[in-house]
Amino acid sequence: MHLIRRFVGFVTADPLSPREQAYVSHLLRPALARAFFAQRHEDQRHALDVQHRAGGSDERAEAALLHDVGKTESDVGAIGRSLATLLSGVGVPIRGRWLRYLDHSSIGAKKLSSLGASDLSVAFARHHPGSPPEGIDPEEWRALEEADEA
Ligand SMILES: [Fe+2]
Repeated sequence: MHLIRRFVGFVTADPLSPREQAYVSHLLRPALARAFFAQRHEDQRHALDVQHRAGGSDERAEAALLHDVGKTESDVGAIGRSLATLLSGVGVPIRGRWLRYLDHSSIGAKKLSSLGASDLSVAFARHHPGSPPEGIDPEEWRALEEADEA
């Protein structure tokens, strides 16, 4: 059910309004804002929804807004994402863009690290969903995970 809701949310997502874009630009340093706006508009919408739900500090906002930034490189749409996930789940070898989609966590974490994002942002991009790695505040992590799963 969760995946179906995600799918519908993805295909019905509206681009950010100028006001929402200004809000994001205010929260992120320029290099990180560029990474945010390089995402497909559906991913921007999801990330902004997560940020609204997560609330909290500017550091938490950065992590929420950028947590799926590793999906940019593969540029796979809703159906491709679903198929890649399903097929890899049953052991079908995946290559090319679909493989890069499946590897978005480590791609995103490396990108964020190279752009000087916070430890929380890098860790959340790499390890969500899952447990917080050593040195990351479990409360921050839980707030982000709950906001992403909602
Ligand atoms: Fe997410």
